[in-house]
Amino acid sequence: MYDFVVVANRLPVDRVGERWQASPGGLVAALAPVLRARGGCWVGWPGETNTTLAPFSTGGIELVPVALDETDYTDFYEGFSNSTLWPLYHDLIVAPQYDQTWWERYVAVNERFALSVEKQAAHGATVWVQDYQLQLVPGLLRKRRPDLKAGFFLHIPFPSPDLFRQLPWREEILSSLEACDLIGFQRGTDEQNFRGLLPADASVRTGTFPISIDPKAITPGDPARVREAVGDPELLMLGVDRMDYTKGILQRLLAFEQLLESGVDATLIQLATPSRERIEHYRKTRREVEAAVGRINGRFGRIGRPVIHYVHHGVAKEELGSFYAAADIMLVTPFKDGMNLVAKEYVACHPDGSGALVLSEFAGAAVELHEAYLCNPFEVDSIVRAMHSAAHPDPQRMRAMYEWVTTHDVDAWAASFLEAL
Ligand code: ADP
Ligand code: G6P
Repeated sequence: MYDFVVVANRLPVDRVGERWQASPGGLVAALAPVLRARGGCWVGWPGETNTTLAPFSTGGIELVPVALDETDYTDFYEGFSNSTLWPLYHDLIVAPQYDQTWWERYVAVNERFALSVEKQAAHGATVWVQDYQLQLVPGLLRKRRPDLKAGFFLHIPFPSPDLFRQLPWREEILSSLEACDLIGFQRGTDEQNFRGLLPADASVRTGTFPISIDPKAITPGDPARVREAVGDPELLMLGVDRMDYTKGILQRLLAFEQLLESGVDATLIQLATPSRERIEHYRKTRREVEAAVGRINGRFGRIGRPVIHYVHHGVAKEELGSFYAAADIMLVTPFKDGMNLVAKEYVACHPDGSGALVLSEFAGAAVELHEAYLCNPFEVDSIVRAMHSAAHPDPQRMRAMYEWVTTHDVDAWAASFLEAL
């Protein structure tokens, strides 16, 4: 039994056949160091269907696996979580689908997670529920284990009340969240959107806690090797994302193409981790990105010298630091993003004031990193203008952001949430 239990849809590691590998996304990157430092256990899904595993520990974290079968995967994970809630909470970049069968599976899987938490949590323990996949867990815990202290943190944006009201199951989700002792959001506007749905005298406590990174986990590595590998370009730009339609990767490529048309000599590295690959909108995003990479390389590349170096797989954290440190300009252009930890990781790899960050106004990170070169990703020209400015950066801007990111790290984030709880 544990006094501190984190529950998230994913464990920090994924089972791939006989091996374990770090699982994707910002939630895991942020929470793994928190659990390592504080102890307790992490309840989550091991990333492979039909795998029943006993609790085990890895990398200094106690893990309690929750099994998902193929129908859970299609209806709870791909369906309600990622084809209903994800697009709805990201302001309808694609249309959400509302399906009663998916909802029923979401209820059933949330019950399974709650049951597993109940088994692990000691009397009076603190349970920290993470993200949109598990919004019913707080309500279930409140009914069955009133002794527990329950906090919830939403890693993604919370939509405006008018959008949220589209959801046929809005009452069930709201009443579960209201059972929390504390609900945390990334930005003040997310918190206000949520409060806009509650009666004026609602007593549930909410707060804004912008998530951050562990600067020790990401270090500059060997930037010279990266620059040499891509032919020592004049100006090196970088994009690092999950392959997701929220990230604005295609818009960024179109802006890069315009920059080349205007005669600027630049090279782009785009690293894109595969994500949610069976969902049609994700497939379409990948097709469009890959078609644009091919077209732009065809127009501007030479034999042995592409202008875009694109990989569609994950990169080890040690290697990622070398890419961040090597890049003159980091391109973070999501249409909507809860925070975007990539932006903060890039800043953490530039302690000397080098580099520049082009950042979407619609990323949570823009609230804190206002010294970035901000752009509107819905307007390609706006991205191009930010790229031009970032090509002649003011080192004071990166220094200020570095100071902010290294003093407002993920330990400070977790401490502020848990103290408030
Ligand atoms: P999201 O949570 O939506 O995926 P974030 O930017 O907040 O977006 O977090 C992404 C995390 O995943 C970061 O910690 C980043 O280092 C990691 N990541 C993203 N793309 C890659 C990649 N191609 N290889 C390795 N790590 C990646
Ligand atoms: C975002 C979400 C996380 C999710 C991650 C990776 O960071 O907020 O909850 O785990 O993306 O997505 P995936 O669907 O692979 O878990």
